[in-house]
Amino acid sequence: MKKPASVSQLSPLEARAEHARLAEDIAAHDVAYHQKDAPVISDAAYDALRRRYEELEAAFPELVEATASLSRKVGAAPSEKFGKVRHVVPMLSLSNIFEAPEAGEFVERVRRFLGLAVDHPLAFTAEPKIDGLSCSIRYERGELVQAATRGDGYEGEDVTANVRTIREIPHRLKGDAPAVLEVRGEIYMRKQDFAAMNARQEAEGEKIFANPRNAAAGSLRQLDPAITAKRPLHFFAYAWGDMSEAPASTQMGMIEAFQSLGLPTNPQTVLCQTPDDLVAFYRHIEENRSSLDYDIDGVVYKVDDLALRERLGFVSRSPRWAVAHKFPAEQAITTLRGIDIQVGRTGALTPVARLEPVTVGGVVVTNATLHNEDEIARKDVRVGDTVVVQRAGDVIPQIVSVVLDKRPKDAKAYAFAHTCPACGSAAVRELDAKGEADAVRRCTGGLVCPAQAVERLKHFASRNAFDIEGLGDKQIEFFHERGLIRTPADIFTLQARDSDPATLTKIRNFEGFGETSVRNLFAAIEARRRVPLNRFIFALGIRHVGETNARRLARHFETFDALRAVARAAGDEASEARAELRNIEGVGDVVAEAVADFFVEEHNEAVLDALLREVTPEPMEQVKNDSPVAGKTIVFTGALERMTREEAKAMAERLGAKVAGSVSKKTDLVVAGPGAGSKLAKAEGFGVEVITEDQWFERVGAG
Ligand code: IVH
Repeated sequence: MKKPASVSQLSPLEARAEHARLAEDIAAHDVAYHQKDAPVISDAAYDALRRRYEELEAAFPELVEATASLSRKVGAAPSEKFGKVRHVVPMLSLSNIFEAPEAGEFVERVRRFLGLAVDHPLAFTAEPKIDGLSCSIRYERGELVQAATRGDGYEGEDVTANVRTIREIPHRLKGDAPAVLEVRGEIYMRKQDFAAMNARQEAEGEKIFANPRNAAAGSLRQLDPAITAKRPLHFFAYAWGDMSEAPASTQMGMIEAFQSLGLPTNPQTVLCQTPDDLVAFYRHIEENRSSLDYDIDGVVYKVDDLALRERLGFVSRSPRWAVAHKFPAEQAITTLRGIDIQVGRTGALTPVARLEPVTVGGVVVTNATLHNEDEIARKDVRVGDTVVVQRAGDVIPQIVSVVLDKRPKDAKAYAFAHTCPACGSAAVRELDAKGEADAVRRCTGGLVCPAQAVERLKHFASRNAFDIEGLGDKQIEFFHERGLIRTPADIFTLQARDSDPATLTKIRNFEGFGETSVRNLFAAIEARRRVPLNRFIFALGIRHVGETNARRLARHFETFDALRAVARAAGDEASEARAELRNIEGVGDVVAEAVADFFVEEHNEAVLDALLREVTPEPMEQVKNDSPVAGKTIVFTGALERMTREEAKAMAERLGAKVAGSVSKKTDLVVAGPGAGSKLAKAEGFGVEVITEDQWFERVGAG
């Protein structure tokens, strides 16, 4: 996307034109978001428009005067559908910050305004910023009398009847309530409820909502309160408007007062003394975001002392005493350059979106998953389209939607290949027992497909299978391309063939391989001629046989010969052998069938015979009780460079350790990679031992 000129380079005329254009765009987006509950751009894109608009006004103050500037308004005017409610105390907005140092700047601004010395105590609350819609609920003598949406901040919509249907919101406050109390907070929908509701809506051919926030807004803003009543809405009270007397003198005190009046409040609210405390809480919430059952888009910092807040007051549309520290945008807009089809170990064809690089959630993204054929069709994703990319937590980036307005005229609907791009074999969608087509299209090339073969070899040598050091994905591709390794047995004959005078080029002469690395590789291969049975079975890459099922089979059969004998006899569904497989604890029909299918295949038998001439499966690996980490609780955090999280977990568990997701006093050891954040800080706080990934390998003797 073209970068706009810096505001300072614009002439007053250009600035005025852009300001007017932006005002129109923003107003249209406000209507789409606030009135129709159907935004057309991401929050991040909207924030960017708004920021540019404010930059223009800062550089050209006359623009603020010239128009009824949007920067004085929040949201959009209330829709005509509902009665109007004038807010006695306006419902304003918060200014945003995006970077940690800005938290310090915020605190500094507050101190300066109040004339407080650096060492004068100043407390703040930090609380999650709930991604729902704000609502003001008026209680008179403890009775709920009116509820209103924010609207434009001054006038909102009367949603009293709808709010009354929300179970969590009391019609009558408990205990001693002030004569007048306007409770403000967020109405939201839980993530699970949202998914279930959307599924129901889809089944009934009704409107699908883009996210829990829109679903909450759409559910509340129903003309028929009976519909709202059926929607799973919740509420958190965190602020107030008109109030006859204050039940407390701090934000924390107010939250406690709300709670004792019977109002729901967010338990994740803390009191902080320093900018570091604020940022530590922000990181903590950011890391645990996915485990919350509702969406949040940042953390709100508020001056705790209400008397100080009075002095601080407001500037334009936001209070000086609070700020929203937003999470980095998890969505961004970019162009889809192409769609590549990857062929997996089991022949699954996976479409991968190649994108114009874009920063999402603080990381540059160039690829995103498109899941499968139906997904592409459902979203009608076309090469050349402008797309919304989302990246949340550790999840692979995804394409959320297409910006249809920007579709090039010549963009053609994507035709998913019906042949494998690697071997040209037919690619089909298998039918399940009910006759429904599988979501995944698979290459039928099986053993002739080079892409599947390479993926199978990578799997065979990988850390949780044969674990051959120095034979990673790149090396496998290299040897496969040159015809030096085609089946697993070839790995073990590589050295013998390398010494063969018939081989013209020795491996050590290839680029990237030196004398030492080749010697090390051969030694690593030799060291794996004996391998625990569970790893041997897992390495075969039988469909549905992951590490856990491989262990189950190994435990049951004890030797490979025993497994093979039964599996060979299990081709017939009604056979005793099939029943034996099926009845192994945790195995079941699908796995039993996959195992039988594997051994029925003659080529697999030949590959196995060759492999068994080279390697010997040994008794199953026992969980080690004598390892240096046995019985310990370990947390992995930050970016690991030598193994994936999954591998790390499996490795630690094999060594008898427990792997936990968060650091507590009970944690024995934290393995921290680059970029480790609050977990590392917490470990240091608790005095838990912290080591690097390399030190981990040294400690467990796998360095
Ligand atoms: S305090 C003067 N606290 O964020 C404004 N707002 O951008 C006082 N929000 O309109 C608002 N969680 O809808 C506050 N814990 C929280 C919040 C929160 C979500 C929303 C609210 C507000 C918007 C401001």
